[in-house]
Amino acid sequence: MHIVIVGPGALGGLLGATTSMGNDGSDSVSLLDYNHSRAEEINRNGLRYEKDGEHKCFNIKVIFKPTEIDHADILFLCVKSYDVEKCLQYCSPLLHSECLVIFMQNGIAHLDHDRHIGEAVAVYGTTTEGATCHGPGHIYHAGVGKTFLGFQHPPTLDSSHRLVRVIERLQAGGMNATTTESILNRIWAKLFINVGINALTVINNCKNGVLLELPEAQLQMRQAIEEAQCVAEVLHIKVNAHWRDTLEVCRATADNLSSMLQDVRKKRKTEIDAINGEVARLAASLGLQAPMNVELVRKVKDIEKQYA
Ligand code: PAF
Repeated sequence: MHIVIVGPGALGGLLGATTSMGNDGSDSVSLLDYNHSRAEEINRNGLRYEKDGEHKCFNIKVIFKPTEIDHADILFLCVKSYDVEKCLQYCSPLLHSECLVIFMQNGIAHLDHDRHIGEAVAVYGTTTEGATCHGPGHIYHAGVGKTFLGFQHPPTLDSSHRLVRVIERLQAGGMNATTTESILNRIWAKLFINVGINALTVINNCKNGVLLELPEAQLQMRQAIEEAQCVAEVLHIKVNAHWRDTLEVCRATADNLSSMLQDVRKKRKTEIDAINGEVARLAASLGLQAPMNVELVRKVKDIEKQYA
């Protein structure tokens, strides 16, 4: 099985390291990166992985042109939500009927992008692993989380076996990963976490764990999540999650910089539109109020404007 990971950022790098550690020699793992100089740098120095003071280095091949890849059985899409469409065009030579495309984005804006994958089969994923990219191909694994992968539509037996194999690789590499028959509910549960953490870490310029010490941020977190819960309820999406679960994630990833704060510190566009922005957009379209999400979007966009 050839596993191709698109995007060597924090999550892409973490999946590259994990699938390499879990590979018993029967699979091959490659990274695909549209950024030529970064691809060359990782090819020269390897993919470096750091966890609990332990350092490992993997010689994963980083490829720049999709046409140089013979075929991909698995394509992990680890790019930002706003880049998914562009990324699928770039990967189009690899999108054949036996390829599983695994969408790993934060938020919910990517959920209908399976219309851009041609004959390939869509799988959706969600993870609460905390990882930071310290430089090209240098991954710091700050907090262990849970990863769920699943189909939105009933899969063929072959697709379902292939997904089980991916899960086995991730587990063998040390990840707490599992398949789920209710991926949409899992993605919404993760959305609540991102709705409650990401923007607030940007506004307060702090690590996830610091939110536990800020009473006002916790009130804002609760309101933003409860607004998202109302949207899910009206859409009949059953999410077994309480806003306090998000506090648990803050604790488990206390030392992590949220992906949104990492974006801001690197002066990159954030995923605010796919997270709080989607909650606000859906709420408005359903005739609901989501003032806290509107406010968080406005504040993060103001911060983005300072460097855009
Ligand atoms: O986006 C993130 O940073 C992560 O999803 C999470 C779980 C909030 C941990 O930082």
